[in-house]
Amino acid sequence: MTPPLSYFDNAATTKPMYVPPHLTADLWGNPGSPDQLGTHSKEQLRLAKLQIAQQFGLPGAENVIEVCSATEASNLVLASNWDLIVSTGLEHEATLRTLQKGKKNVLILPNYSNGLINIPESLPLIEKALTRDNMKILLSVIYANNEIGTVQTPGDLAQLKRAMLIRSNVVRVHLDIVQAVGHIPVSLAERGNLFFVDYASISAHKWHGPPGVGLLLSKDHSMLQPLMFGGAQQGGLRPGAEHCALVAQAAFVLQTILPQLVTLVPRMQNYSRRIMTVLQPFVDNGLVIITGHTQQRNVNHVSFCVAYGDSTQIIEQFNSCAICVSSGSACSGTKATPSHVLLACSVPARFLRGAVRITSSMQTSDYEVTRVCRVLRLILTQHQNEIKPSALS
Ligand SMILES: Cc1ncc(COP(=O)(O)O)c(C=O)c1O
Repeated sequence: MTPPLSYFDNAATTKPMYVPPHLTADLWGNPGSPDQLGTHSKEQLRLAKLQIAQQFGLPGAENVIEVCSATEASNLVLASNWDLIVSTGLEHEATLRTLQKGKKNVLILPNYSNGLINIPESLPLIEKALTRDNMKILLSVIYANNEIGTVQTPGDLAQLKRAMLIRSNVVRVHLDIVQAVGHIPVSLAERGNLFFVDYASISAHKWHGPPGVGLLLSKDHSMLQPLMFGGAQQGGLRPGAEHCALVAQAAFVLQTILPQLVTLVPRMQNYSRRIMTVLQPFVDNGLVIITGHTQQRNVNHVSFCVAYGDSTQIIEQFNSCAICVSSGSACSGTKATPSHVLLACSVPARFLRGAVRITSSMQTSDYEVTRVCRVLRLILTQHQNEIKPSALS
């Protein structure tokens, strides 16, 4: 008998949480219409946005711009009128491709192989890139990496901002916090851990909310320019009728899970530790490298590369045991080229095609972790037996 599916691809998407239908049943009115239903939807949308804003330490509903994905949220920030965008080689495609396509002046900061930004090397590069005073500068960084799990140090990012403020008073910081929400406390409040952040992209489908709801958290929209043109919704920054019911669902889920982080985080950390324990002997004999930072990483995230491994084959082996894992980024699909993040982390060539990512969630059970550990050990042992020991030395 086939076992029930064990889902370990929660960095790609998460199973939506049950939201009592009565909470959103009457939110189908157009919030732009002055009729009774529209007015009700408008007010509920405002309340939902306010709840979301407050979860991130922001004061008002107007600090939340509803879009359809985190990709769109990041595009909205990046496409505005910056003289210089400072970013990293570790970004999600939503940022990376936008930077590649745009004709903007971009500085890519160096990083260590563990995925942390190399601050000592970055500071002189920033100084050099600021060729005149008061350039409009955006620092855009992925906070918790989707492929390798590394979580940047807030103090380091604040230091980068301070270095830019020396020559400009128009410096803004955008963080992609898509993978952090539901795992790492995030506050953009004055005394919060990310107090220096001006914009943050989030996506409800990454934290058991509904798909199709991206949100841009923004302290001040004055530097932002719309990507689309149409009605006056959301101050004209993002025209088009809002999805009141979906935003209300997203707010409900966020309010349900964030207060539970205190208990959820140790549980997910324990799961990750158990999976890492299975990997350790294979790390010791050179078959596997852990990608990303060994300590400063997202709590639910285990990522590694197998020497001379083939991600597609490994994922298929897990699939055949009814376990879903992935190779790194869901957005890279089945592309044959090695991941830009692994390249930026100088992962040796023999490991580049063997990337595996195992990500748990608050819905993951102890039994499922036991299963994934057993199957992982079997797959790696089999692979080890297939390659010559001399290839690993
Ligand atoms: C770190 C990160 N940023 C951005 C995105 C894009 O999110 P969305 O699917 O909402 O566009 C993802 C999704 O994989 C992600 O992991």
